[in-house]
Amino acid sequence: RERKRKEGVNLLELSASFFRERLKMPEGQGAREYLERRGLAPEVIDTFGVGYAPDTWESLKRHLGERGIGEAVQVEYGLLVHREESGRTYDRFRDRVMFPIRDIKGRTIGFGGRVLGDAKPKYLNSPETPVFRKGRELYGLYEARQADHRLERVVIVEGYMDVVALAQFGIRNAVATLGTSTSEEHLGRLFRLVNEVVFCFDGDRAGRQAATRALETVLPLMIDGRQARFLFLPEGEDPDTLVRREGSEAFQDRITCASPLSEFLFDQAAAGRDLARIEDRERYASQVLKAIGRLPEGVLRSLMLSELSRRTGVEAANFSALLARGEGVAG
Ligand code: UTP
Ligand code: MN
Ligand code: MN
Ligand code: MN
Ligand code: MN
Repeated sequence: RERKRKEGVNLLELSASFFRERLKMPEGQGAREYLERRGLAPEVIDTFGVGYAPDTWESLKRHLGERGIGEAVQVEYGLLVHREESGRTYDRFRDRVMFPIRDIKGRTIGFGGRVLGDAKPKYLNSPETPVFRKGRELYGLYEARQADHRLERVVIVEGYMDVVALAQFGIRNAVATLGTSTSEEHLGRLFRLVNEVVFCFDGDRAGRQAATRALETVLPLMIDGRQARFLFLPEGEDPDTLVRREGSEAFQDRITCASPLSEFLFDQAAAGRDLARIEDRERYASQVLKAIGRLPEGVLRSLMLSELSRRTGVEAANFSALLARGEGVAG
């Protein structure tokens, strides 16, 4: 099993350098132009090992084959696709800009590949393999730790381009989930390394929904003075577009001013409600209380309860009693 793992890692490294080389060759010209249009500087292309998968069906397969790597392993590690019907195999990634995904030790464990145009899917990721599990890995975490070994805070963004653009502008602590929502496992791993996470999703409906889900997910993990904050971007912007438009200082200020979890939680429950009305206040209180119920026992939980009490005029003891009985916390 260990031998197999090594073989897989070797094959992934060989593929990563294959893609990097192709980007520099004549066939990579379209990809180079694309990256230039997107404003990617040579330094970040280098740091993140960005490459190009050529517009051919078998060039990686042949390249790896010449180096003694069998087709079965290539299929197992997601580089090669096997068609049942025809029995044929072909390169999974073709004519895409390639982002190697690295584990915490810097070993390549998978890839994300972006089309140069508007074709679908926009991003193609490696499938689940013996070394790659989407719900667990974070793009950019290795590079963030390389940039700062005493990392204290990470910014969680949606995409590869966001991580790379922020790094180019000196914000080297961004990480991205890989086309999945932020899981408890992601956050658990991050909180073992840093004390603070800042969620910074795209300024669109999907991004705001992602923030709501992230809030739910992070609540049970709020122990020992950990911090979670939420940064909302203007409509239509993502970190990549915004940092290029505003520059790093302005973006850094946004990070500094991101809403603490407590603020986001109360604001979100108040949204669309008229708190002068008792019924609205009831729903507001129920929603906040439900979230508080997901917080671990501790100072934050107590403080949130007294704040809810202050905001609703209901004695904290009543809320505590409801929480203890698990009542009044539906909705
Ligand atoms: P976005 O659609 O926000 O893409 O998806 P983006 O990163 O801003 O892409 P650019 O700027 O147009 O290049 C965010 C992330 O969701 C995943 C990828 O990880 C992407 O970076 N995704 C998106 C996929 O896995 N597949 C897709 O087809 C689209
Ligand atoms: Mn070759
Ligand atoms: Mn988006
Ligand atoms: Mn984008
Ligand atoms: Mn985006």
